[in-house]
Amino acid sequence: MPVNVRGRHFLKLLDYSPAEIRYLLDLAKEFKRMKRNGVPHRYLENKNIVLLFEKTSTRTRCSFEVAGNDLGLGVTYLDPGSSQMGKKESIADTARVLGRMYDGIEYRGFDQEIVETLAKYAGVPVWNGLTDQFHPTQMLADLLTIEEKFGSFKDLKFTYMGDARNNTGNSLMVACAKMGIDFTVCAPKELFPSAELVETAKAVAAENHSTIHLTEDVAEGTKDANIIYTDIWVSMGEPDDVWETRIKLLKPYQVNAAAMKNAAPNAVFMHCLPSFHDTKTTIGAEIAEKFGITEMEVTDEVFESPQSVVFDEAENRMHTIKAVIYATLC
Ligand code: CP
Ligand code: NVA
Repeated sequence: MPVNVRGRHFLKLLDYSPAEIRYLLDLAKEFKRMKRNGVPHRYLENKNIVLLFEKTSTRTRCSFEVAGNDLGLGVTYLDPGSSQMGKKESIADTARVLGRMYDGIEYRGFDQEIVETLAKYAGVPVWNGLTDQFHPTQMLADLLTIEEKFGSFKDLKFTYMGDARNNTGNSLMVACAKMGIDFTVCAPKELFPSAELVETAKAVAAENHSTIHLTEDVAEGTKDANIIYTDIWVSMGEPDDVWETRIKLLKPYQVNAAAMKNAAPNAVFMHCLPSFHDTKTTIGAEIAEKFGITEMEVTDEVFESPQSVVFDEAENRMHTIKAVIYATLC
């Protein structure tokens, strides 16, 4: 059956079949080829989208803006605090207002429930640009990057180190399960994904001939991995006072030269970014001053190494987001 996702929301990867994800990745590859070759693709002129951000962003916002401009769309950006949503107007009312004016709505913010409610009431496609639980547009960029590096998803071992129950960790477990990639969580058990999501992911993985494995053992978790991925230890929206416990819990799970050496010879390092790999940020400098560590989830050595593909991932955010906008609005 041909794949058609026109009019659909993009809220979490669990809602999409492997064939639909495959379709979006192929579309993204085509848009990347066109962009690189200077081929115009203003296929959605006269349509408009709105970007609702309740948390800060560089990649996601810029990807939606550039993708929207390339497709000929009008794009409105609403920054944290500049709309009535939540304070003076409910999520449902905001959705119904924006749905009367725009052809699509992007939301980045807090609970997954908010983006699900927007989708329920908007009457137009709603795209999740990150919630506390999921980060699905990041997943398409990561899958595209993996396919570019390894040629396919076949026989790959993916290891996620660090805070495995945040939006990125949760989403990667689902993305790998959907595309048949063996997925290992390498984290302290306090930061494993929820038992419920692990069960769901295991069932999805079984359908796609792959596995989900959880371990606290770094040597076992990183052994022969083709991809080692990490994310920041404290996510947006979490209180500052969790840093101390998080650093203690996650220091052994830092991606360093030893972890990469234990991985497969062709291993790549991935990170959704932004990353604390040095002290050249305000938070990085504050943490160094307070806790005496100059690198957090990844060492600067690994981040800057030839194995690191983090900027390919960042570029692929734009091509894959363009595919999602186009496929759901065309
Ligand atoms: N990876 C990612 O979502 O980056 P931003 O927070 O900059 O959008
Ligand atoms: N887990 C991170 C992802 C940032 C793209 C956060 O939510 O802050």
